Amino acid sequence: MTNPARIELDGQSVELPVVVGTEGEKAVDISSLRDVSGYITLDDGYGNTGSCTSKITFIDGEKGILRYRGIPIEQLAGQSTFIETAYLLIYGRLPHAKELQRFSDLLTLHENLHEDMKYHFEGFPSHAHPMAILSAMINASSCFYPGMEIGKPTAPYFDQHAARLISQVRTIAAFSYRKTRGLPIIYPKPANKYTANFLHMMFSDPYQDYELKPEVVRALDLIFLLHADHEQNCSTSTVRMVASSKANLMASAAAGVCALWGPLHGGANQAVIEMLEDIQRSGDDGSRFIQEAKDKRNGKRLMGFGHRVYKNHDPRAKIIRQTCNTLLKSLQIQDPLLDIAFRLEEAALKDDYFIERKLYPNVDFYSGIIMRAIGIPTELFTVIFAIGRMPGWIANFKEIMDESKTRIYRPRQIYMGPTLNSYVPMKDRG
Ligand code: ACO
Repeated sequence: MTNPARIELDGQSVELPVVVGTEGEKAVDISSLRDVSGYITLDDGYGNTGSCTSKITFIDGEKGILRYRGIPIEQLAGQSTFIETAYLLIYGRLPHAKELQRFSDLLTLHENLHEDMKYHFEGFPSHAHPMAILSAMINASSCFYPGMEIGKPTAPYFDQHAARLISQVRTIAAFSYRKTRGLPIIYPKPANKYTANFLHMMFSDPYQDYELKPEVVRALDLIFLLHADHEQNCSTSTVRMVASSKANLMASAAAGVCALWGPLHGGANQAVIEMLEDIQRSGDDGSRFIQEAKDKRNGKRLMGFGHRVYKNHDPRAKIIRQTCNTLLKSLQIQDPLLDIAFRLEEAALKDDYFIERKLYPNVDFYSGIIMRAIGIPTELFTVIFAIGRMPGWIANFKEIMDESKTRIYRPRQIYMGPTLNSYVPMKDRG
């Protein structure tokens, strides 16, 4: 039994329970604070706020630890696949062979979009950002399938909707890529595994199937797996926020896509490549950019560096850096952007500015280079992140739905606006 926390407020001592997680993380449960004292806590950007308890993912940012359902990310990256990991995240344990087969069959069963959904693609302009198409199409898909009613118990509909979402997000992504290029749509092939099928829908043409190189399939599968969950980040918190109102799975996931889009979150992988291209175009070897990224006046940042929770290293970046090197060698690709990236990394890791602020490369620093090598266009990078993150969002959605006592998410604020004043009629406003 942990001793309660005690705080003094206006001369009064308030006792608050302490919650200890299974990995020893400690939190002061302040949910009763306002009732007993009139105070709330203020934590701009939620950097020190636990919004929930969760059994899905554990991160120790100081030690560079990431585990899905207790299993270290390094083990999953080395031995699992994206789809097996998706099962682990959503259902809480590794599947037996039959369970994995059933899950895989469900994904195949639901890989095609409802035919009428195809007409939606025609309404988007060819320059539309694929993240806009993705969120709109995921949301639209809730119109096409029954059993999506608000507040339904999660099973049996949940398994189908979860499989449909994981499977179709990849179909939507590939269709939107081909639509923006004016290319004919390629349908999925049931015989292909998940990631191979995505590459097929992206790059095959009606007369010639895309050659599926195992190292390419594996590298992309690894990117999906490494992005599959990351506890209460901006997009996952958004999914939980929307789900807490008992909105359906598709609506919650579509909101997650929007939150992921920004360059400070999922959009960073696109921003990294754009930054590297800018550096290359300007003839800089990276050293000038490092100086600029330290100068707050120009608003530049070293994209792909820094993380809200990792203050030592991002374990995903370590894994993906290695894959990036191996893949480029195997495909015999000489990418000058990779040279700039390595120079930036080397310089930043020795620079006091980055050391003092504990800014290390994050997963996005290398994932963009891999995707570029595979031939995925830059504007689709964040969509790849969204495909990978879908199991994590679904697992968090399920956790909210399964938890009988979840309350609607509703933070408070401290108001700093004008105090009471009166409405002035137009004629008297001067
Ligand atoms: N380049 C230069 N300076 C930086 C960077 C960076 N990439 N990141 C943070 N800093 C500086 C800030 O200017 C600030 O400096 P100050 O203390 O002198 O004011 C200090 O480091 C702390 O930065 P915050 O913005 O307060 O850190 P926060 O935890 O809020 O932000 C974030 C984390 C958004 C990831 C930030 O590091 C960043 O913008 N990185 C670049 C974008 C990026 O790579 N995002 C991907 C994140 S990983 C993911 O979503 C998968």
